[in-house]
Amino acid sequence: GANPDYDLSTPIDPNGVGLRQNLTSYGDAHFSLFMRKLFIKAMGYSEDALSRPIVGIVNTYSSFNPCHANIPQLIDAVKRGVQLSGGLAIDFPTISLHESFAAPTSMFLRNLMSMDTEEMIRAQPVDSVVLIGGCDKTTPAQLMGGISANKPIVHLVTGPMMPGSFQGARVGACTDCRSNWAKFRAGTIDIEDISALNEELAPTAGTCGVMGTASTMACLLVALGMMPIQGATAPAVSSARLRIAESTGTHAVQLAKTRLQPQTILTRESFLNAITVLQAIGGSTNAMVHLMAIINRHPALAGTITPATVDAIGRQTPLLVDLKPSGDNYMTDFHNAGGMPALLHQLKPLLHLDALTVTGRTLGQELAHTPFRPLPPDSPANSIIRPLTNPLYPSSALVVFQTGNLSPGGAAVLKASASKDRRLLQHRGRAVVFNGSADLAARIDDPDLDVDRDSVLILRGIGPVGNPGMPEAGLVPIPRKLAAQGVGDMLRISDGRMSGTAGGTIVLHVSPEGADPGSVLGVVKDGDVVVCDVEGRVLSLEVEEGEIKERIAQRRREMEQGGDEPWVAREGVRGYRGLYMREVNQAECGVDFGFLTAGGPVTQGYD
Ligand code: FES
Ligand code: MG
Repeated sequence: GANPDYDLSTPIDPNGVGLRQNLTSYGDAHFSLFMRKLFIKAMGYSEDALSRPIVGIVNTYSSFNPCHANIPQLIDAVKRGVQLSGGLAIDFPTISLHESFAAPTSMFLRNLMSMDTEEMIRAQPVDSVVLIGGCDKTTPAQLMGGISANKPIVHLVTGPMMPGSFQGARVGACTDCRSNWAKFRAGTIDIEDISALNEELAPTAGTCGVMGTASTMACLLVALGMMPIQGATAPAVSSARLRIAESTGTHAVQLAKTRLQPQTILTRESFLNAITVLQAIGGSTNAMVHLMAIINRHPALAGTITPATVDAIGRQTPLLVDLKPSGDNYMTDFHNAGGMPALLHQLKPLLHLDALTVTGRTLGQELAHTPFRPLPPDSPANSIIRPLTNPLYPSSALVVFQTGNLSPGGAAVLKASASKDRRLLQHRGRAVVFNGSADLAARIDDPDLDVDRDSVLILRGIGPVGNPGMPEAGLVPIPRKLAAQGVGDMLRISDGRMSGTAGGTIVLHVSPEGADPGSVLGVVKDGDVVVCDVEGRVLSLEVEEGEIKERIAQRRREMEQGGDEPWVAREGVRGYRGLYMREVNQAECGVDFGFLTAGGPVTQGYD
C-alpha cells in the first residue's frame, strides 16, 4: 500500500524516530521527509531499514592517528550490535586528533572537535550516537559536544596499546619515551638503542599504554556512567575490545528507545564519582581541565564543581592503582587485574552508587551485575589495584592550590604522587623567570644562569591565550649544570600543561595566566621569593601587595602603548586562531570557549 509518510492528510509525529526528526529543513514537514528519504535511498537502504531507530556512529579514523587505527573494525562490531538489536547503524566522520599530529598542540583543536561533534549530532537524524574516540583530547571533545547537543550518546574508546619490548624489559608510550630520550641525551644509551626503542615504544594500535590522559579519560567515562563498566581497559587489539564494541551497539539501540540524554544521566554525584576515580588512579593533570570544561557544558551543573572540589575529594581518596607515571605498570596490567570494575569495587565506600549510567541502571546495580572476584592471594597482580587499607599513596594524588596570591583563579594543580623530591612539597625559593618556551630553550642550559637547586623555575606565557592551546610545555627541564650535579627534581611553576605521562614537582595551570595584564604571574621578577606549601595548599609570591599593584599598573601602561603582547594582539588575529584567543577561558573554567559553556563561569581572565 501507499507509504503513510507521504500521505499529506496524516500529521508527522514531531517526536518520531530516525528520518522523521528535524522536520523543518525544507519548511514543509512532508516534503522534508520525502527529500531525506530519496537521498538516503541512494545509499541503498530499504524502507524497512529506514523505519528502524537510527544509531549514528562517530568515525574519528585517520591514517595520521595510530591511537584510532582499529576504528574500522570497531565500527563493524558496533554495527553488528546495532543491527542484531533491530536498529539501523549509520557512521559519519568528525575530525580526528592525535597528540603528535595536531600542531601547535592538540588542545588548540579540542574545542573545534567539540563543536564539530555537537553540530553533526544536532544536524543529522540520529536517535542515539556511539562516540568512538581514544587519543587524549578526543574523548573530552566528544563528551563536551555530546552534552551540549543532548541527544542520547554512549562512548566507546579504542583502548590502550600493548607494551613493547626492549632488551628483555617492557616499554611503552609515553613515560618510557621521555625517560629513554633523557638517557640517550645523557649518553647512557647509544644511537642503536634509541633507534631500536623507536620501533617498540608504540608497538600496536591503541592509546598510550600508561595512566596518561587517554587512559585517565577512559576511566573517567566509566565513572561518569557514560561508558559501560567494562569499556575502559581492554587492549585495542584484543577480541574483548571488539565484543565491547558489539555490546555498545546493543546499548545504543536501547538508548534510542529510552532516549536517556546525557544531561539527565550526568548529575553532581556522577562528577563526584569521576573525581574520586581520578584521585584513586593518580590520573593526568589534563583531566582537571577537561572535567571543568565538561561540567560547564551542563546547564544544571555549570560552575557548581570547581578545582577546589577535586582537591577536597583528594583529601579523602587514596591512590590505589600502581601504573606509570605515578607507579610502575602498564594499562594491560590494570586490565588483567580486573580493570575498572575491580577498582570501583575497592572504591565502593567512597562512591555515590545511586548515580545513573547509560545502561539505564545505577552504578551500584552495574557493580552488582559484575561481582567482585578476588585474585588468588599469591598473584602478583594484587599489587596493581590496591585495597583501601593498603594504598600506594595515602591521599591527594592531585592537589589544587586554594590560597596565596600567585594563582587566585584556583586552578594551579600538582600531581604530588609523581613528585620525585618530596622535600619540595614544602618549599621557599628564589624565582628564575622565563618568558615563553623560546626564552626557556635559549637560557636554561646557560652555564651563567643564576640558579641553584633551591631556585623556583617559573615559565610563563604558555597559557590558553599566551600560547594558544596551552601547550604541554610545563615540564621545565632541570638546568644542565644542576642535572650534572645530580639534581633530579626542582620546584617548577607554569601557566601551561604537562603530558599526563610525565612526573616531577611541577605546578601547572596557574591562573590567571601570565599573558593576562592583571595577573600576578606576569609580574614575578627574578629573585622574588616564591612559597609552595602543599599541605596548606598555598602558592604565593612574597612581595608586598602595594609593590605587586604598582608592577601590574606599570605593565598595563606599557601594554597600552601597543606592542605584540598576545592579550592585545588577539583582536587582530584572523580565523580559528583569533576566535580561540579572544574566546578561550582560563584553566579553572576548562579552557573552553566562553560562548560554548552553559552559563557557568566564563572568565576571560582578570583583565
Ligand atoms: Fe594518542 Fe598518547 S598519543 S593516547
Ligand atoms: Mg598525552
